[in-house]
Amino acid sequence: MKVKTAEFVISNTRVDMCPKPLLPEYAFIGRSNVGKSSLINSLCNNKKLAKTSSTPGKTQLINHFIINDEWYLVDLPGYGFTKTPVAMKEKWMNFTRNYLRHRENLMCVFVLLDSRHNILKADDEFMEWLGENGIPFVMVFTKMDKLDPRDVEGNIKAYQEKMSEKWSFLPQHFLTSSEKKTGNEELLAFIEETSKGFTPVKE
Ligand code: GTP
Ligand code: MG
Repeated sequence: MKVKTAEFVISNTRVDMCPKPLLPEYAFIGRSNVGKSSLINSLCNNKKLAKTSSTPGKTQLINHFIINDEWYLVDLPGYGFTKTPVAMKEKWMNFTRNYLRHRENLMCVFVLLDSRHNILKADDEFMEWLGENGIPFVMVFTKMDKLDPRDVEGNIKAYQEKMSEKWSFLPQHFLTSSEKKTGNEELLAFIEETSKGFTPVKE
């Protein structure tokens, strides 16, 4: 799939204020600063579409973008960053979880994980929560350009071994770099394929 058009639609905190659920939707989540907004921009070939920052906590709302007038891409606030005040983190997490649990056209959640780190508690707990709530997700390793290629395989293997302790089926994973545009084709192909299973919700 080629991204021909990508436009911002709306930002909000309420699932009932999101666009009508008439098109397939994919949401990006992960720890603050993991590269969610950057990956959205890389996929859409537009550095200014989603707001990015080297300071964690940039994305604070549920942001809808419409791609090719065919599907929605959603940028969500990050979790787990220690410097964000607790009350703020809780507020973001509450509306984000509410959105994830109730958004009827949500086809798959992309959980972004920094490819340089081992599995972190916040990611582990979040994926467990997705599993408990029956929300489909895949793992997307980010910032591959910052990792020595020789370490890639070992890091992914360590992740999978740790995940296998809890999960009987491991979620599909993707290797990406927004800097180098690695993995974009694979992610877009996955979205195209997954969208074939979308059943339009009757108005
Ligand atoms: P919040 O909105 O704060 O939760 O963060 P986010 O996950 O949206 O991260 P964002 O895309 O704003 O990126 C955070 C920082 O990481 C920025 O300084 C980006 O330039 C950098 N970054 C993101 N992706 C990559 C990547 O693939 N490679 C490199 N080298 N840097 C990246
Ligand atoms: Mg962001």
